[in-house]
Amino acid sequence: MPTAIENDTELKTSFPLTPQSTLGALVAIVRNPLDALPPSIFKEPLVFSKTAGEVKVYLADPVLIHEALVKNADSLGKGDQVRRALGPALGEGLLTADGAHWKWQRQSVAGAFRHDKLVELQPTMIEAAERTRNRWLENGQGTIDIGHEMMRTTFDIIVETMMSGGHGIEVGKVETGISDFLRPTGWTFALGLVHAPEWIPYPGRGKAKAAVAFLRSSLLSVIEARRKSPDDRRDLVNMLLSASDPESGRTMTDAEIVDNLMTFITAGHETTALGLIWTFDLLARHPEVESQVLAEIDAITEGRPITAVDVPKLVYTRQVFSEAMRVYPPAPIITRTALKDFQLGEYLIPAGTVLIVPIYAVHHHASLWQDPEVFDPGRFSSEAAKARHRYAYMPFGAGPRVCIGSAFAVMEAVAILAVLLQKVRLAAIEPQPPKPVMKVTLRPNKTLGMNLVLR
Ligand code: HEM
Repeated sequence: MPTAIENDTELKTSFPLTPQSTLGALVAIVRNPLDALPPSIFKEPLVFSKTAGEVKVYLADPVLIHEALVKNADSLGKGDQVRRALGPALGEGLLTADGAHWKWQRQSVAGAFRHDKLVELQPTMIEAAERTRNRWLENGQGTIDIGHEMMRTTFDIIVETMMSGGHGIEVGKVETGISDFLRPTGWTFALGLVHAPEWIPYPGRGKAKAAVAFLRSSLLSVIEARRKSPDDRRDLVNMLLSASDPESGRTMTDAEIVDNLMTFITAGHETTALGLIWTFDLLARHPEVESQVLAEIDAITEGRPITAVDVPKLVYTRQVFSEAMRVYPPAPIITRTALKDFQLGEYLIPAGTVLIVPIYAVHHHASLWQDPEVFDPGRFSSEAAKARHRYAYMPFGAGPRVCIGSAFAVMEAVAILAVLLQKVRLAAIEPQPPKPVMKVTLRPNKTLGMNLVLR
């Protein structure tokens, strides 16, 4: 029955439901949540489906995405699903917190991501990429695990830039820890969907718990060391140590600082690494694009070592990274829960409804992209980008909860591509590209080996 909100607009309160079997959805979510998306969301602007007795709203129309994530941001929270899946590791850090607790944390760290600050970090990004490249050159031609290599490089960058060094944290152990934590997240999403009690066991739960305990205790020792010997570095650790809530005046507890360091370390290296892994696979399968990237890098650098000044000039390389994140968005689905009733298009969405923004489906949507499955960096020329709705492309989300590290990530990715591709090319080993599987982030379904070819 139609109802009114604010300016007497007639709003619909019953939804045209797309049937979805709860069991089918649960099985798909455990295996790969991308397979649980209603197929019609790749063609329609908006899909309502009912699983486990609850309506879920899938949004793919950029106008509706803007209306929900930007205009109605205050009516939305991260919700129970996100808290269940990520809360054990990230507590109530910046990614998972809501309301006033989110806001003061965001304001406390915003300074670390200002443009001038990021420019200062560029040499550190370039040096980390050079360490990876030198290791490759020492080992010579052969096969590398590009997943491991990119995780290692971006981890090196995040701990150097945000924590002024790794403080003895072992990258290999962190990488395994994060994978162990993320592996069973399909189960946490599926169990959350049917509101199963949180103690219910599922495969991988014990390993995930141990991984979180290891990661959190490693970071706690970093904070304890910093409290014992304070210094005046303007890095993230010191920003968090000195942050104070404008309302209560209180500072963060050690556990809250760990929540945020965990957030920045995981959100800040795994996503960029995945963007790069997919970029290298796509380049290897599109020699014409690869040649153009190599030509651009050679023309800009003329064989000299890459410097911070070169990075913004690598326009085509940046287009390639953007297009790779369209085809394979590292964060493929974001969700919200309505905290109060709000208007979405012609509908009144009641409090408690779960909203799903399948970035992956937006990026492959038949009405937003021509030949969406084709890899074409030309889509990101400045003219082509101007002709699109801003939210037809949203690898970093939208609205006040947009990724705080988006500029950091792009700068870092372009620098890494330039430093590596100046001296090597990577060739695919398998004839078919890997399948993307969502484990919170979008990973290849198997270890991705690539052949290193010296240039
Ligand atoms: C290619 C790389 C990256 C991608 C694709 C990505 C994607 C995203 C997306 C989609 C969101 C929004 C989540 C939502 O709305 O629910 C987000 C939030 C966030 N990202 Fe990123 N991210 C990347 C790199 C980074 C980096 C490098 C950092 C830190 C150095 C970072 C830190 C964060 C944090 C802290 C949030 C939460 C922001 C808030 O809620 O206020 N991310 N990211």
